[in-house]
Amino acid sequence: MKKIIIALAFLILPGLSLAAGGGYPLEKAPIDLHDKASLQKGAKLYVNYCMGCHSLEYQRYNRLARDIGLTDDQVKDNLIFTGAKVGETMKNAMPKADAKRWFGVTPPDLTVISRSRGVDYLYTYLQTFYLDPTRPFGVNNAAFPNAGMPHVLWELQGMQKAVYEVHKDHDGNEAKVLKGFELVQPGSMSPPEFKEAMADLTNFLAYVGEPIQLERQWIGIWVLLFLALLTVVFYLLKKEYWKDVH
Ligand code: HEC
Repeated sequence: MKKIIIALAFLILPGLSLAAGGGYPLEKAPIDLHDKASLQKGAKLYVNYCMGCHSLEYQRYNRLARDIGLTDDQVKDNLIFTGAKVGETMKNAMPKADAKRWFGVTPPDLTVISRSRGVDYLYTYLQTFYLDPTRPFGVNNAAFPNAGMPHVLWELQGMQKAVYEVHKDHDGNEAKVLKGFELVQPGSMSPPEFKEAMADLTNFLAYVGEPIQLERQWIGIWVLLFLALLTVVFYLLKKEYWKDVH
């Protein structure tokens, strides 16, 4: 019985994550894991604006330092506010039970969010909080309708309101469709600056989701080169072996 339930859970879970999409078109995230400056800016945004609620339980500070081109001391001075040691993982101090009481849901760990939800989803999610007085925190989100997260970046982005378009279907029923947003209160960043900052943050989370990515690509290239070389050697060897047979 237990096995059946587990099997069912695996069948149903991927469907649930799709269902959270909400139908709003996702914007393609400009990921560039070679851009160390972008990863560093993303890391800084993350520890300043996200770590309070979301841990990165499987990411170590010192691995991060090495991968995004910082020294351990730079990480200690700029990225660690929790009193953690540089060899520890990026946990936060928020007790899960309190978090649940405050937000109704526990903020999920974000180590692999870029892979479970996709980078385009993250990039869109971060940019599409909009005013909605019916929600507990006064905001809703286009990529994740009725998300239980406040708009934590409102000081940077400002506040935007939703712009709807009315669509009529074949039977003449009208439906409001979310078209886009209008900035009603500017933030400290201009819209292009905010967009770039969200690209950096998404880039950082894409790196965290699979820190080995860059290395893996290199290993792949070397393996292909090695196989190409081996093909030449084997071809010559074959010619050598067969030359007296004919
Ligand atoms: C004040 C606490 C708080 C802060 C700060 C915060 N979040 Fe959240 N976040 C939440 C909560 C609570 C949820 C769960 C929402 C839900 O499931 O309804 C959430 C959900 C999310 C999700 C959605 C996960 C999913 O299942 O689709 C993402 C992505 C996310 N947060 C990213 C971030 C990023 C990036 C930052 C920093 C810019 C951040 N959060 C800052 C509380 C917070």
